[in-house]
Amino acid sequence: MGSSYSSSRAEKILDDLTLESVADYIKSGKCQNIITMIGAGMSTAAGIPDFRSPGSGLYDNLGKYNLPFPQAMFEIHYFKRHPEPFYDIARQLIDREYKPTKAHCFIKLLSDKGLLLRNYSQNVDGLEIQAGLPDKLNVEAHGTIRTSTCMKCKAAYSMGEMREKLLDGGEGVPTCDKKEGCLGLIKPDVVLFGEALPRRYAQYSNSDMGRCDLLIIMGTSLQVYPFCGLPHYTQPSCPRLLINLMKVGQDPDVPSGWFIRKMMGIKDPGLDFDSSHAYRDVFVQTTCDAGVEKLASLLGWTDELNKLTAEVKPMTWS
Ligand code: APR
Repeated sequence: MGSSYSSSRAEKILDDLTLESVADYIKSGKCQNIITMIGAGMSTAAGIPDFRSPGSGLYDNLGKYNLPFPQAMFEIHYFKRHPEPFYDIARQLIDREYKPTKAHCFIKLLSDKGLLLRNYSQNVDGLEIQAGLPDKLNVEAHGTIRTSTCMKCKAAYSMGEMREKLLDGGEGVPTCDKKEGCLGLIKPDVVLFGEALPRRYAQYSNSDMGRCDLLIIMGTSLQVYPFCGLPHYTQPSCPRLLINLMKVGQDPDVPSGWFIRKMMGIKDPGLDFDSSHAYRDVFVQTTCDAGVEKLASLLGWTDELNKLTAEVKPMTWS
């Protein structure tokens, strides 16, 4: 993505680096193109483990599969040779009831108020869509489990069909029966390491990030490129709010950040919450749900958010 980061003098928009100032900025009406960026930390409250939280994260709980390294499970070449661990985890997660969280509903509320430019999600659970977010405002950068495809004949499978194959088909891996004799391996339409991101990602992010006038990052370790590079492409004056259990996205946090940023022509030195030069990045160390609850309260949106959260329905495996 061509860096839209201009080196123009950064205008300081927020009065100070607090959630209250972010709320004042939203209430001022000057903020019309909010982008949200979310990760697995947003769905933990829905009962879906994240990847890197020490102890509870998926990558800390894969020992029994004897993987060469934890992420191998989500690496395309490994998956093609050894899909069993992936589908063993899928079996454990499938068929439970997952409901969008308050944070998913907050994104929907931003959309209802005409303030959301786009939601960029690393999650494949589809909970933001289940919360009612219009498809055109949502980019699932790492794909989705809502559909699957045969890797051999490209036949399409629904979540309901995959549920049936996984739960009724014993311990094996799901193979294709839509084309006579195919028996190809079926893979959910998720983006594994080594695969290209959906076209939609570049198509939208190329223009979105330069238009963004408030970036809200929630529930992500910002460890995986190109997604974690998105904050660098905002205009220098664009305030960036991180609601997360851990402080992330600062230069040393991002793997070989300086090198990749140089390669991608990014001038922005990463999120800066604390230095004497900090002027636009706000960190709120809390859960996604508690963070949006506080922000909604500051905005006077508590009742609307609680209504959306109460009315939202769980995902069905159909
Ligand atoms: N509220 C706020 N933050 C949370 C919560 C919560 N309830 N639960 C966890 N977190 C934080 C964790 O502290 C961590 O910083 O969310 C972050 C989750 O980080 P990861 O587990 O690395 O998830 P994510 O950033 O989405 O991973 C990115 O890595 O494995 C690949 O493709 C996979 O899309 C995934 C990508």
